Amino acid sequence: MKDLAKEKQPKHVAIIMDGNGRWAKKLGKKRIFGHEKGAEVAEKIIEYASDSGVRYLTLYTFSTENWKRPEEEVNFLFNLFIKYLESRMEKIISKGVRMRFSGRIDKMPEDIQKACKRIEEKSKNNSKLDLIMALNYGSRQEILDAVNKLISSGKKEITKKDIQNNLYLPDVPDVDLLIRTSGEKRISNFLLWQIAYAELYFTEVLWPDFDEKEFDKALLDYAKRERRFGGLTGSDEFGNK
Ligand code: IPE
Ligand code: IPE
Ligand code: MG
Repeated sequence: MKDLAKEKQPKHVAIIMDGNGRWAKKLGKKRIFGHEKGAEVAEKIIEYASDSGVRYLTLYTFSTENWKRPEEEVNFLFNLFIKYLESRMEKIISKGVRMRFSGRIDKMPEDIQKACKRIEEKSKNNSKLDLIMALNYGSRQEILDAVNKLISSGKKEITKKDIQNNLYLPDVPDVDLLIRTSGEKRISNFLLWQIAYAELYFTEVLWPDFDEKEFDKALLDYAKRERRFGGLTGSDEFGNK
């Protein structure tokens, strides 16, 4: 959405890309078919978000809970990441996208860790869009890891700033707009700290059917929201406008 006023644009958009399996099932196909289509959609949305002026885009790619899925599905997803990290993402970073990862990457298979490091390094000076892939990511784990780091450093009392500074990507600002596809209205352990004041947008559309138009709908909806952060801007002291 190019013609939105700058102050009405979200700086950080996070997406829970959900519904791949149900989409494939509806077509009488295997779940993995949905993941393949889902990855293509992600690629399109990354390009579009970058051209729309979004500065940070976080995509929920694999959660710490997704290990519960059958090994065959997990392996398929990992092979798909590798394929994207080693080829398709080259085009994306050539357009000024910086690729970053959030989550327990150290617990991922070696080849994925290597591919992540390589592309992170290669794109580190890009600044059009920070694309953050949440991979083996769980928000409770992230907060716990931050607290444990602080304990090991000898802290006796911690502040909000201390937690922020010890998140996986401390410099990334809070989420402005959180989108979840597929009709589920839950957070599923995603960015709990960072979404404290995010605007939430839920759509029934399954992720493989999501497209630029649907993304624009979310941005337009966001542009109409009045963000008060607990204050009274735009309303009187009784909450009347
Ligand atoms: C989201 O789609 C993709 C990942 C979790 C990797 P799902 O695989 O959760 O699809 P549904 O929710 O079962 O339809
Ligand atoms: C959240 O979707 C994780 C990702 C999109 C990677 P899930 O499909 O795993 O979440 P639940 O199980 O519906 O909460
Ligand atoms: Mg799901």
